Amino acid sequence: MPRKIIIDTDPGQDDAVAILLALASPELEVLALTTVAGNVPLPLTTRNARQIVELSGHQIPVYAGCDAPLRRKLVTAEYVHGKTGLDGIPLPEPSLPLQPQHAVDHIIDTLRAHPAGTITLCPLGPLTNIATAFLRAPDIIPRVAEIVLMGGAYFEVGNVTPAAEFNIYVDPEAADIVFKSGVPLVVMPLDVTHKALTSRAWVEEMRALGTPVGQAVASWTDFFERFDTAKYGSEGAPLHDPCVIAYLIEPALFHGRHINVEIETGSELTLGMTVADWWRVTGREPNAMFMGSVDREGFYRLLTERLGRL
Ligand code: BDR
Ligand code: CA
Repeated sequence: MPRKIIIDTDPGQDDAVAILLALASPELEVLALTTVAGNVPLPLTTRNARQIVELSGHQIPVYAGCDAPLRRKLVTAEYVHGKTGLDGIPLPEPSLPLQPQHAVDHIIDTLRAHPAGTITLCPLGPLTNIATAFLRAPDIIPRVAEIVLMGGAYFEVGNVTPAAEFNIYVDPEAADIVFKSGVPLVVMPLDVTHKALTSRAWVEEMRALGTPVGQAVASWTDFFERFDTAKYGSEGAPLHDPCVIAYLIEPALFHGRHINVEIETGSELTLGMTVADWWRVTGREPNAMFMGSVDREGFYRLLTERLGRL
């Protein structure tokens, strides 16, 4: 039986690759995409999500969610993802209708409608939608099977401030709610995703697929590689969000520790930091499987094989 997931996302080229990987994988049943403001404002992340679904050739409902963090002004990342959030080859204006229901209500209804412990949430952006659902309907919290998310950093520290990773930094109060919720968490921080760097050969393999998906993935990677290679001096760019989906398909690709992770919400200097008790020095209860490494070759092998199916 495929695992039922909801992907909560702010696409974003790496979100897009994650969504395509999920849709290409029979181990997963993507019930819905729920969108959130993050890399770019909500109208754009929602439009991008609809374009990605159409590109995949699948039929998945898209629900728009929160357009701003719980308590802060939205911070976006056009400098990484471009004006549209999905810069690369232009995609047609989507005809896939947007669902009328708010994403938060949809998450609540879905968790109530399915047997407890059967729905996994996969947040790939700021945690605003998930935290809002938990605040509004605490009865759904014990019904969530697991949350597998991209966010945070420990040894690798921040990408948006010296201390914080973008998804957590944008809405630290939401992250705090999710990390304290008691739901089993699997976290893909920058410590992992900065080891999942694209290579020129892989991008060319994508292009050589000769499919619209292959073309799009190659063009997206070309686009955001420019930013990452200039910033980090690395060979390629990190495919952050696909790590979440790859974990669901092939968990053995990743290694980490079950530890306590708290979110900094008070300090201006380290706002949004994921304070990870990697060395287990605090005695605080573990609340997250915090990943530290990935089998890069296995990860790209999986991506190539799966994206080739679309
Ligand atoms: C995260 O922030 C976004 O820019 C990416 O899509 C990813 O989810 C990496 O910090
Ligand atoms: Ca994202």
